[in-house]
Amino acid sequence: MSELRAKPSPFLNVLDGFPQDTPPLWMMRQAGRYLPEYREVRAKAGDFLTLCYTPELAAEVTLQPIRRFGFDAAIIFSDILVVPHAMGMNVRFEAGEGPRLDPITDRAGLEALRLLLDPAKVQPVYEAINKVSAQLSRETALIGFCGAPWTVATYMIAGRGTDDQGPARMMALRDPDLFQALIDRLVDASIAHLGAQIDAGADAVQIFDSWAGVLDPASFDRWCLRPLRRIVTALRASHRNARIIAFPKGASLEAMERLAHLPLNGIGLDWTVDRTAARERLVDKVAVQGNLDPLRLIAGGAQLEEEILSIRNDFEGTRHIFNLGHGIKPETPLAHVEKLVEKVREKL
Ligand code: CP3
Repeated sequence: MSELRAKPSPFLNVLDGFPQDTPPLWMMRQAGRYLPEYREVRAKAGDFLTLCYTPELAAEVTLQPIRRFGFDAAIIFSDILVVPHAMGMNVRFEAGEGPRLDPITDRAGLEALRLLLDPAKVQPVYEAINKVSAQLSRETALIGFCGAPWTVATYMIAGRGTDDQGPARMMALRDPDLFQALIDRLVDASIAHLGAQIDAGADAVQIFDSWAGVLDPASFDRWCLRPLRRIVTALRASHRNARIIAFPKGASLEAMERLAHLPLNGIGLDWTVDRTAARERLVDKVAVQGNLDPLRLIAGGAQLEEEILSIRNDFEGTRHIFNLGHGIKPETPLAHVEKLVEKVREKL
């Protein structure tokens, strides 16, 4: 497998099963508001979705953190809510308020969704991937992504972000057939969207299950694990060299252990995960990615350097990709990101 690889990329090496002396590094939400150059392009684009759907601009902001920090992977600038938008839902991003959708509450709302993703919405994403892929050096990998069906469904049902995903959990309990039908649609849409991103030049894909942590174990199996298994199995059948990372934020170690039995290349860990336990129970099956608390990166100082070292030591010699435990926050000082890059790449 390794001799066929087009890219001598540390990030891809780890996903392919080879630990590196210093862990490859990227950050979730690395293209974003903590960067002045992002804020400039964002202001020029006006609307967040316009930025997502303009390939030149999306490609530009994808490359900004690579130019500034030399991360080992770029992640295409887009959003998990592009999928419901391309299924025909009305999606808006209101300044300072987060996403708003017209919620799906019944069968008629589900039936109104498109079966095939609207090319006018998804083609610009693939075009942006194509552009970025042409501009990256061979050492820097490109990541495509989507939201996991469960997480995307929570926004489609509530019409917005909520604290405990009550509306989606309630629909799953009151009308499991309707909820299953929505998940089925999202499974198909995710397979199509991830496959097309790989075709356009993504070297790996990440599936963000940001709300995996609010479900009881049986519901996790039904609404997170099973849909992910279908996506991963289909993607492997259509794209033999697909590299797939799942990020089940908030999931228990037991739940992640069950996930690790899927044919995944990597699992993302949030900052609450006990690394010793993760090392014992996950690293023989998959690469692990994480797991610095984004607040530590804001606070900086000695605790930041100590935690970076502790993460490196805890995963030394394993297939480890250094990342945050969730997205970087807008108020993060650039100097702290510079410190992170220095400390992650320092020889131990
Ligand atoms: O990681 C990257 O740099 C790539 C781009 C990316 C964005 N969103 C850009 C974005 C990725 C991978 C996402 C994923 C995403 N989007 C998730 C899963 C990861 C997570 O954070 O849990 C979720 C739940 C969403 C939905 C979403 N998009 C929300 C809830 C919000 C509002 C909150 C916020 O951070 O503002 C967004 C908007 C969004 N997506 C922004 C960015 C850079 C900020 C919008 C802006 O620039 O005005």
